[in-house]
Amino acid sequence: MKPMTVVGNWKMHTNPAEARALLRDILRGLTHLREIHGSGPWPRVLVAPPFTSLAACQETLRDDEFAETVWAIHLAGQDVFWEAEGAYTGAISAPMLLASGCREAVVGHSERRRIFRETEEEAAKKAKAALEAGLEVFFCVGEEEKERERGETLAVLRRQLEPLWSLLPEGSQGRLAIAYEPVWAIGTGKAAQPQDAEEAALFIREEARKGGYPGDLPVLYGGSVTPENAGAYFQVPSIQGALVGGASLKAASFLGILEAARKGAEGSS
Ligand code: PGA
Repeated sequence: MKPMTVVGNWKMHTNPAEARALLRDILRGLTHLREIHGSGPWPRVLVAPPFTSLAACQETLRDDEFAETVWAIHLAGQDVFWEAEGAYTGAISAPMLLASGCREAVVGHSERRRIFRETEEEAAKKAKAALEAGLEVFFCVGEEEKERERGETLAVLRRQLEPLWSLLPEGSQGRLAIAYEPVWAIGTGKAAQPQDAEEAALFIREEARKGGYPGDLPVLYGGSVTPENAGAYFQVPSIQGALVGGASLKAASFLGILEAARKGAEGSS
């Protein structure tokens, strides 16, 4: 059976009250789905709220109402800085994420790379710091539309991944996953073809092997994933989950994707 992970990236949405309400709706929905379908094989579910809503989410997860379901959801940071503390205005460190209830962090999202001008080396440094601190890392890579048109997709993926391999600390095996997110597919409704995601995933695994990464490396797909199209990605052999933006902001659509992941995992048994 294929282990699946679904990450809901809430980006710059939800104040603490809204985050609490959304997480409650997801937890209630998951409880209900588990009553219908039983305990397995559910995907691992992560939500990445804005930093300012982490405390509200942590509180919600402690609510007695969700004692049965709470194990099913982890909190993740949307980003992480490479230093543990210091004069870095606006930055959040890996130990801070851990202390705020996160076990995972998203690193190198294309919005960080494009809008905040984060370089490949910086993204790799962030991943290293997060892994060293004990977080699990979802490292995002993906090409722009023009790069795909010029046939440069694989070269771009190689360039984005390259600094990572030499920086990975000992013991990161099993705590790193790559999210293949073509930039042109993010928030556009223009999702990649499942076979293109498969090709990228196979290439990423091969690069990891050449880079000396030991063992299996899960690859997730991200970019306009919806309850309607998610199943097609989960059926592709090399895709082990999804990074979801827009569709993670409504409990109903996020739960639809979790159901598709459950079916995908079942289908691969
Ligand atoms: P989207 O975002 O699902 O809204 O396309 C995906 C992402 O940015 O991770």
